[in-house]
Amino acid sequence: MQTAGLFISFEGIDGAGKSTHIAALADAFRSQGRSVTLTREPGGTPLAEKLRELVLNDAMDPLCEALLMFAARRDHLQQVIEPALASGNVVLCDRFTDATFAYQGGGRGFDLQVLGQLEQWVQAIPTENNRLRQPDLTVWFELPPSIAAERLAGARLPDRFESQPLVFFERVAAGYGARMQHDPARFARIASDQPKAAVWRLVRQAFEQRGWLSAEVPA
Ligand code: TYD
Repeated sequence: MQTAGLFISFEGIDGAGKSTHIAALADAFRSQGRSVTLTREPGGTPLAEKLRELVLNDAMDPLCEALLMFAARRDHLQQVIEPALASGNVVLCDRFTDATFAYQGGGRGFDLQVLGQLEQWVQAIPTENNRLRQPDLTVWFELPPSIAAERLAGARLPDRFESQPLVFFERVAAGYGARMQHDPARFARIASDQPKAAVWRLVRQAFEQRGWLSAEVPA
């Protein structure tokens, strides 16, 4: 019998520490026999990766930035996410639309209604009455922006987002908060200002509680 696909996104401000937990979850799901599609936004397809290069490095106006994020997302959904879900895979996606609401909406102050409209266009599923494709769960790594900035300092050459001042990330964090308020059941909010092992326990718990990972399998 085919297991149903599972769509998980991971969010947080830059420096919140998503990567190692995403990799650990991929291992945990694989060790339970699930096929895992590990992917990211913006990106995940050849076209979307090209758009990522542009949007992370080239100066542009906020509408252009939002359109490129959603253009990349459209290709990613069609080429990777929808087919993977249809085959019953677990899709672990490093960022999705909440990042657009947080960064372009919160951070840049771009019109949330326009973002909502783009979301409708890009994520509607025509075969399911135009229901919007959304993650089954969004893991939000929440960390005070000042701590994230300390973690990021000197890590590598910053891109257009990483080089923003603290106040930008405070707006991004508030953007995530607003997005979660809008649809609380979809979110697992993980207090990430603690050692990695403690954060991992919380992440793992969120999946066990939903019956998606069994408690017996060690991390
Ligand atoms: P990130 O996910 O942090 O990848 P890496 O760890 O390789 O830097 O980088 C993606 C950046 O793009 C991040 O700063 C957030 C930003 N972003 C948006 O502004 N809007 C979006 O819709 C998405 C998906 C990402």
